[in-house]
Amino acid sequence: MSEPRDEDPMTFDVATLRKDFPTLQREVDGRRLIYLDSAASSQTPQRVLDAMDEYYETLRSNVERGVYRISEVATGRYEQARTRLARFLGAPSPEGVVFTKNVTEAINLVAYSWVRRRLGPGDALLTTEMEHHANFVPWWHAAQDHGFELRTIPVTEDFELDLDAARDLLADGKVRFLAVGHVSNVLGTINPVADLIEMARQANPDVVTLVDGAQAVPHLPVDVAALDCDFYGITAHKLCGPTGIGALIAKPERLEDMPPFLTGGSMIVDVQLDGVTWNHPPHRFEAGTPPIAEAFGLHAACDYLDDLGMDAVRAHEHALVGTFVDALRDTEGVTVYGPVDPDRRSGAISFAVDGVHPHDLGAMLDGHGVCIRVGHHCAKPLMRSLGVNATARASLYLYNDTDDLAPLLDGIAEARSFFAR
Ligand code: ALA
Repeated sequence: MSEPRDEDPMTFDVATLRKDFPTLQREVDGRRLIYLDSAASSQTPQRVLDAMDEYYETLRSNVERGVYRISEVATGRYEQARTRLARFLGAPSPEGVVFTKNVTEAINLVAYSWVRRRLGPGDALLTTEMEHHANFVPWWHAAQDHGFELRTIPVTEDFELDLDAARDLLADGKVRFLAVGHVSNVLGTINPVADLIEMARQANPDVVTLVDGAQAVPHLPVDVAALDCDFYGITAHKLCGPTGIGALIAKPERLEDMPPFLTGGSMIVDVQLDGVTWNHPPHRFEAGTPPIAEAFGLHAACDYLDDLGMDAVRAHEHALVGTFVDALRDTEGVTVYGPVDPDRRSGAISFAVDGVHPHDLGAMLDGHGVCIRVGHHCAKPLMRSLGVNATARASLYLYNDTDDLAPLLDGIAEARSFFAR
């Protein structure tokens, strides 16, 4: 794999690094595949694939229940993945790391095992207008069923959270739960989550907080202990890891008094015909056979990213997103939805092209071997607040560089001349 260059430790040799990613070796009609959809799912380096193969080829067995050697080794490696993820994210203890299917399941776990049991009429839950549906629909559904108020922080014309409005929404002290995305999957905005958590605690010292880190952890150095949130959700498939595994990172004491979300095997200490004793966290929340190969892969993804250095990943994307946003804003007929300043944003860049439906643009770019996402990006409340049905979105990661810009701009120009005449 490619190391950060000695003479310039904050950038990568991207051409070399791309060789780590098998799918990026594909050609489309004789052209290099240009992958600009990492906010939907990142590419996976060979090292992660090898780690999963190692499990299937040498340690294939179940975990947490075998008394024979390969199962014990596999169990140890599964638990090491938990410890590795805790270290990657600055979590105080692996006891607070619950493996889930994805961030959606992590958030639903909190919705069912905490929010639905504790919030009711007279209480409020505060979230934002820019959330992915994963961090909105579980709260909306719980509010419908349990009669608490759902409040949303609006988005300013600069595509940032309106912190004055947030202060007003917190002022009556009724907000008992705050759920906020760390980075918007549509706008790329990096939200001031530490400030929001602090603001919410000043209004109600007992407030409980959750951060959706799906779009942050792949791109920024994240330290959950420094954020001091109660819950932080992640998913592996956006951070060079496999699909099928995510995690809820929690303050261990929060998990202690939470009942399970899913029930069945592995999550009990005892079962009698007339009673069940729950297992201790985090196993209480991991019913059934877990994603074992995926945990091996996630461990390798943390190693891969830490070897590059998350500061270097951020520095690379910071430079790149500035170049892409400036170029798109300078292109006639293109409107960018999201902050201009790279300090305030990550690499998901939503935009519209005058006279061209995003789906037509996506299809035309596909003809150039360029992969972008088009549509509502699972953020319909935000689309409504932007006054659009859909946008096009190019999203960047560590294997993109400025060579990926010209094919994007060429496709936009071709779409404009074809559709917008
Ligand atoms: N949440 C992912 C996206 O924004 C799927 O594309």
